[in-house]
Amino acid sequence: MNGEKMQKPQTRVLFVCLGNICRSPAAEAIFRQTVEHHGASGRFVIDSAGTAGYHVGEQPDRRMRVHARERGINLVHSCRRVKVDDFDNFDLIIGMDASNLRNLRALAPSVEAARKVRGMAEFFSPGARYDHVPDPYYEGAEGFELVLDLLDDACENLYSAIGEGI
Ligand code: 4NP
Repeated sequence: MNGEKMQKPQTRVLFVCLGNICRSPAAEAIFRQTVEHHGASGRFVIDSAGTAGYHVGEQPDRRMRVHARERGINLVHSCRRVKVDDFDNFDLIIGMDASNLRNLRALAPSVEAARKVRGMAEFFSPGARYDHVPDPYYEGAEGFELVLDLLDDACENLYSAIGEGI
């Protein structure tokens, strides 16, 4: 050893929803803020993607951007579809609801790759009233606020879980 500190390996986290314009870009931005808050930005690669391709190339949904902005969170992302290579490029692939998880597991190229797929609800605090992050696309303002509340809670717990080796 030459006195340099051993660097912990980076953890690469991909958040996935259906459209990649509401829930997963919000999760990406909130988790980025979480790791920054803990002074751990250099230890993470964070991205998001959608299982569907309806909005590829678009920025996040305006409503999601407005609600996030009110909490001091800036959503900057270009919508993309999840791809098989993501299973090589990420350590954790976190789906927002049961449909996302089904689609991700169907796309996984191996049993080992499928083990990278986790549900965001696994990281909700005990007593949470939801078992998934509900799709806000056809909802009003309260749907977007609910998504942000659930993601705030889950991102902090996800950060701790990664620190404990998940
Ligand atoms: P997201 O929400 O999966 O949270 O990005 C949706 C965005 C778009 C559509 C559905 C859900 N869509 O049907 O276009």
